[in-house]
Amino acid sequence: MINVILCGGSGTRLWPLSRTMLPKQFVRLFDGHSLFQDTLIRNQSVCNHSFIVSNTEQFFLAADQLSQVASLKADFLLEPIGRNTAPAIALACLALEQDDVVLVTTSDHLVKDQKAYEEAVIKAKALAEENNLVTFGIRPTYPETGFGYIEASDQDVLSFKEKPDVDSAKLYLEKGNYFWNSGMFCFKAGVFLKELERLSPEVYQASVEAINLACEEDYSLDSRVFKVGLDAMQNIPEDSIDYAVMEKSDIVKVVPCDMGWSDLGSFDALYDEVKASFDDNAVLPRLNNSPEPICVDAKNNLLVTRDRQIALIDVEELLVVDTSDAILISKRGSSQKVKQVVAEIKKSA
Ligand code: GDD
Ligand code: MG
Repeated sequence: MINVILCGGSGTRLWPLSRTMLPKQFVRLFDGHSLFQDTLIRNQSVCNHSFIVSNTEQFFLAADQLSQVASLKADFLLEPIGRNTAPAIALACLALEQDDVVLVTTSDHLVKDQKAYEEAVIKAKALAEENNLVTFGIRPTYPETGFGYIEASDQDVLSFKEKPDVDSAKLYLEKGNYFWNSGMFCFKAGVFLKELERLSPEVYQASVEAINLACEEDYSLDSRVFKVGLDAMQNIPEDSIDYAVMEKSDIVKVVPCDMGWSDLGSFDALYDEVKASFDDNAVLPRLNNSPEPICVDAKNNLLVTRDRQIALIDVEELLVVDTSDAILISKRGSSQKVKQVVAEIKKSA
C-alpha cells in the first residue's frame, strides 16, 4: 500500500510556531520530531512506499526531514501553488498505478494509539480492495464546524457533510451515528479517479493535463521528484476532496476508530492532548537544552519553550509560546483568536 502524504497546507493556527515558511506539519513539536516525520514513522508498518505531495517551496525542508527518519522509499510530487486536496490527491493517483491501494493521510495530525491506527488501516485496506472509497470516522466530542461529518449505518456512509454550520453540528452530535472525518482516506487510485471524473470532471481533466506536462527533476536523491508546472496548476479548479467527491459519492464507507486522534488545530487542542503527561503545567521544550521553566504557584498552563529561561508566578490557565522572534501569551480557551493576530501581521507586512 502506498501512503500519499498531503503536505501542502499552510496552517497558521499555531503561530508563532507555524509560519508561511514553516507550516505546522514541519514544526518540531514532540521529541524533536515534526508531525510530518511522525506521519512517515506511523505509516512505515502499514505501507511500503511514501508519496509526498508538497509545495515546491517546502521541498528541501521536507526532503531534509524525510532523510532524518526515512525507512521507506519516498517520492515527491511538487505543486507550485496549492489547489486544495482534490487536485493534490488526483495528481498523486494519476502518477501511480491504477490498481495501487492508496492510503491518503494528512501530515499535520496527532495519532496516539498506533495499534488502533494499524487495525483501522487494515480494515480500510480490505474495503478499498472491494472498490470503495474509505474514510476513517472519529467519534465527535463537541460540535466542531471545521470538520467533515460522516453519517453512518455500520460501515456504510449514508451522507457526508463537510464543515456544517453550528446548529447542524450540534444535531449531528446528538444523533450519535455521525463521525468526524479524520481527513484520511483509503482507495484504489483508479477507483478514486473514476469517481472524480464522474463527480468533478473539471478538476479531473485539468489534473490529467497537469500530470501529462509534469517533468521529473534530477536532484540526485534516493527519491524521484515530479514537478507540476505553474500554468497547468493554475488551470486546476481549487476544491477539497470532501466537497469534490466525498459529499457526492455513493461508494463511501467508514471505518470508525478510536486511535487518539487530534488535528492539533490550536494551542488549546495541543494542551488537551499533552496535559495528562504533566502535573501542574504542560511544558514542551523545543530544543534539547531548553532551560526548565520555573513555576511558582502557577498551574494548568501550557509552556512551549525554546532557549530562554521562562518563569511564571501566580498565573493559571495561560498559553505561553516562546520562539526566537515572537512570543504568544493567551488565556487558555482563546487560542482560536490567533488567526486575528496572523491577519494583523499580514496587514502590516
Ligand atoms: N499537497 C497539498 N496541496 N496538500 C494540501 C493542500 C494542497 O493544496 N491543501 C491542504 N493540504 C493538506 C494539509 O497540509 C493537511 O495535511 C491536509 O491536506 C488537509 O487539509 P486542511 O486544509 O487541513 O483541511 P481541513 O482541516 O480544512 O479539513 C479536512 O480535514 C478535517 C480533519 O482535520 C477535511 O478532510 C475535513 O473533512 C476533516 O474533518
Ligand atoms: Mg486541517
